[in-house]
Amino acid sequence: MAQESTTLLFTIQEADWRDLRSLRYLEQVCFPKDGWPLVDLIGVLTYPNIVRLKAVARDKMIGFIAGDRREEGYLGWIATLGVLPNHRRQGVATALLLECERRLATAVIRLNVRRSNVPAISLYKRVGYVQVAVWPGYYSDGEEALIFEKRMAIEKGELWE
Ligand SMILES: CC(C)(COP(=O)(O)OP(=O)(O)OC[C@H]1O[C@@H](n2cnc3c(N)ncnc32)[C@H](O)[C@@H]1OP(=O)(O)O)[C@@H](O)C(=O)NCCC(=O)NCCS
Repeated sequence: MAQESTTLLFTIQEADWRDLRSLRYLEQVCFPKDGWPLVDLIGVLTYPNIVRLKAVARDKMIGFIAGDRREEGYLGWIATLGVLPNHRRQGVATALLLECERRLATAVIRLNVRRSNVPAISLYKRVGYVQVAVWPGYYSDGEEALIFEKRMAIEKGELWE
């Protein structure tokens, strides 16, 4: 799937274990406070039942998203989403999120975000997420997490099973 924007042409592709080095770099840049340890990065690239997608421009990973299915396929949870700074505000995260939602094929999708993360919250609201809960002190520095949810307009036959 090719997406064109003003300055950038990128594709959305499935990620796998060969993307570990690129994902490690992206995590360090995107999540200086919440970066996952190496073992979690290996897990997200290899465990079954995870939707993992990368945005690629000029053969380089510029964005990544992963989501998993819970509650017997009723609930999808977006575990991580990041785009390299030089490639932001060009629709990359939106494209990753919409494609991840489509592949999860769950009735409901949820995610958590720091209350202070204005860019991410703006993005989630824009694509249809609404805040449904607050988890006090969720992050390691004590900041609370906001839980956002999107109810998918999905036919029963299209649900993941
Ligand atoms: C949040 C993040 C993934 C957004 O990626 P992106 O590719 O720039 O997002 P998009 O280009 O798809 O943005 C879509 C919309 O979201 C909103 N948005 C995105 N970044 C924003 C910002 N910095 N300020 C305000 N609104 C913003 C806008 O409405 C934007 O549409 P517009 O550019 O037409 O105004 C990116 O900033 C990032 O990687 N941040 C660090 C990691 C992170 O916080 N991840 C989310 C964890 S929950």
